[in-house]
Amino acid sequence: MNALHHLWEQLLQDELERCQTTKKNDRWRPKLHIAPPFGWLNDPNGLCQHQGTYHAFYQFSPFQAKGGLKFWGHCTSQDLLHWKFEGAPLTADQPEDCHGVYSGSALIEDGEMYLYYTGNVKEMGDHDFVNTGRRSYTMLAVSRDGRTIESKEALMDHKDYPSDLTRHVRDPKVWKREDTYYMVQGARTKEDKGIVLLFSSGDKRHWEYRKRFETKEAFGYMWECPDIYELDGRTVLSISPQGVETEGLKYANLYQSVTCFLDGDFRAEAAMGEFRELDGGFDFYAPQTFLGDDGRRIQIAWMGLPDVEEFYTNRTVEDGWQHMMTIPRELSVKNGVLCQNPVKELAEWWNCSKPLQGSFDENVESCCELELHTEGGNLEVVLADGLRLRYNKEEKIFWMEFTDSLLGSGRRVRGREIEELKEMRILIDVSSVEVFINEGTDVFTTRFYPKTALCRVRINGEGCHGTYYFHSNEQ
Ligand code: FRU
Repeated sequence: MNALHHLWEQLLQDELERCQTTKKNDRWRPKLHIAPPFGWLNDPNGLCQHQGTYHAFYQFSPFQAKGGLKFWGHCTSQDLLHWKFEGAPLTADQPEDCHGVYSGSALIEDGEMYLYYTGNVKEMGDHDFVNTGRRSYTMLAVSRDGRTIESKEALMDHKDYPSDLTRHVRDPKVWKREDTYYMVQGARTKEDKGIVLLFSSGDKRHWEYRKRFETKEAFGYMWECPDIYELDGRTVLSISPQGVETEGLKYANLYQSVTCFLDGDFRAEAAMGEFRELDGGFDFYAPQTFLGDDGRRIQIAWMGLPDVEEFYTNRTVEDGWQHMMTIPRELSVKNGVLCQNPVKELAEWWNCSKPLQGSFDENVESCCELELHTEGGNLEVVLADGLRLRYNKEEKIFWMEFTDSLLGSGRRVRGREIEELKEMRILIDVSSVEVFINEGTDVFTTRFYPKTALCRVRINGEGCHGTYYFHSNEQ
């Protein structure tokens, strides 16, 4: 690799050593979720399983907890729950990626990792960086182990993209089907409409534009981080649109993450079904999926959002880092709905459990799971004296509401219509909460900042019973 990459590596190493010698009070660091050792994290990138090991790359600004120049951070895991930081193999070291190694994906073939990403370049001068002044190269980096990059090359530039687009074209997701490689990218047209581009290739390097996915009326001005995958006999299109207006309880976050089913072959005239939000909480964006060796479709999303600082913040910035990923979620289709549940490794990790009743008030471990079953009644769960999860059977709405402003750090209330609450799993990991409702049919994700290490949990529910799970090293 080139001299600039070595320089970045050296600076990263210095930062790692500096952080190890000045150990901060890292009270909000999760135990089971991917988080950066320092600096800023956003989208998951290049998710894959390679020779048995899980690899997750991510958008990483190592030197600024509030974000800056983007590299790809890298971590590995054997169980999708315990992750080892492996450095930043992709740094901004080429003329085509000098202002950011943006999001992308991994294709595994013949023992090699093909890492596709967007090389972001901002030109000098007076530009809006939408219609002029920006270049979005489609890049390919090849690696055997994810740690050392053997080559980097630019595959496409704006001359290869349709001419009615702005300079916003990015986030290649690549997969193979039969003998052909497919790639989707997110884009913004000159008419401010979000779309997805489909390309195909016979050799992983030369790509041909095939078609676009779009709605009749604009659904936001830009679609980021697209993904297309097969799931339980259906074809799913996943996108992260920007610029969608709030509609009652729907689309309450600044930017969205939605999926729809494609009816028909994605290469031909596939019709797009109705969009459904993947998450009803405050912190979820840019999900990406990959296929595990055992055939599971696993999704990881950024547990955060871009540009929300004026609405809500993350107190970990005080400790020199910001943002984390969601727990890896196994996807399935049940009753025509895309469901997300924590990977099965999570249930295997807990080695202690205690039964729960509808009336409960106890301090629980900062990393634990609460599983609750109801008999169709009302339910209220209060976490850390200030995060209320509530279901009212007359209203048929599930609410996630912060009543303590420091705990939510600007997050207030989100709700979603749910016909009946049968059961839910609440995964708490120090500064995050993920609620999986009715076998993952609805999910709510949020960060939170409890004052104490143990988390007080109060449950009040008619005919409610369940289990509290945690892990003890003394077992
Ligand atoms: C989504 C996103 C991507 C882009 C990356 C840059 O959060 O804006 O579209 O590639 O982040 O960090």
